Amino acid sequence: MSKKVVNYDGYDYDYTQYWKDREYENNAEHLVLDDFLKDEQGSWFIDIGGSYGRLADTYANKFEKCIVLDYSLKTLKANSPIVKEKFPNVTFIAANAYKMPFKANSFDGGLMVRVLHHIERQKEYFTELSRILKDDSIYIQEFANKIHLKARIRALLKRDTTLLDKNPLQQPTINMEGSRDGDVSFLNYHPEYVKKIMEECKIEIEEAQGCSYLRIPIFKKLLGANLLTLLEEILQRLLPHSNIPPSIFLKTEIDKEDENTPSHQTLQQILACPKCKNSLRFGENVAVCNNCQRDYIKSNNIWDFRVE
Ligand SMILES: C[S@@+](CC[C@H](N)C(=O)[O-])C[C@H]1O[C@@H](n2cnc3c(N)ncnc32)[C@H](O)[C@@H]1O
Ligand SMILES: [Zn+2]
Repeated sequence: MSKKVVNYDGYDYDYTQYWKDREYENNAEHLVLDDFLKDEQGSWFIDIGGSYGRLADTYANKFEKCIVLDYSLKTLKANSPIVKEKFPNVTFIAANAYKMPFKANSFDGGLMVRVLHHIERQKEYFTELSRILKDDSIYIQEFANKIHLKARIRALLKRDTTLLDKNPLQQPTINMEGSRDGDVSFLNYHPEYVKKIMEECKIEIEEAQGCSYLRIPIFKKLLGANLLTLLEEILQRLLPHSNIPPSIFLKTEIDKEDENTPSHQTLQQILACPKCKNSLRFGENVAVCNNCQRDYIKSNNIWDFRVE
């Protein structure tokens, strides 16, 4: 397995196109997020691996200041002006989820959707996540479910015992999200594995919700997005905790004893060196670490804090 960060900038790939004929899947994910976030509010919110801000409409009206963080600077540059027009409180930042450029206890909430399959060092990621979130903050984690119904049937027919193993399963990645086979990781997870590792990192699971129950090509062809969305809503209510669908969302709460920093801080006040986590001094389009002296550049209004 490669240990490199997945870099979508390296492919000739526009992720917005992936969603052009996936209205049902997009609606299904919005149903879960709208429900999980319905009573939430706060100061700072972060969408980790948020790409072009597909999910900004689920949180940007609830939290005062929001960040879409992604490693793909190209995607951020192309889409930031479009999202900002609708949601001026959303800021795009290029950075690595393993090494985020924020001070401890900066955020009241966050989410990660369709990204954990690229995260090979899960414990390192969840430790970093827990550092930047405040005590009691809300965090939503989506992951690709290894033991979904189709996979179980397939395994039974082939008498394959792979699904009994709780470790992540590497999927073949040819043409998935623009990748060439083998050059990115695409992990499916056993729900027990994700829950265990999150709890070890002081992230308490509050609720689970299966999603995309009807992600089957023939249904999509026959039923159309509106009817599928309606049926999805019913299935989500009837079978919230089932491990049948291909995607699972966990609503979690951060549980740590750190003292929370006051809310209502500016972006410059929460930013820190992604490498050594020390404070930064700011010029107009440059930030320099007061400790390791690394510098970081802002262009097209987007900070580039990417480090490996
Ligand atoms: C399949 S897309 C999902 C985008 C978005 N969350 C959504 O659901 O529409 C995966 C995104 O994760 C980003 N990503 C993968 N690994 C990352 C990392 N280590 N740090 C930051 N972003 C990462 C990629 O650049 C890509 O934009
Ligand atoms: Zn530094």
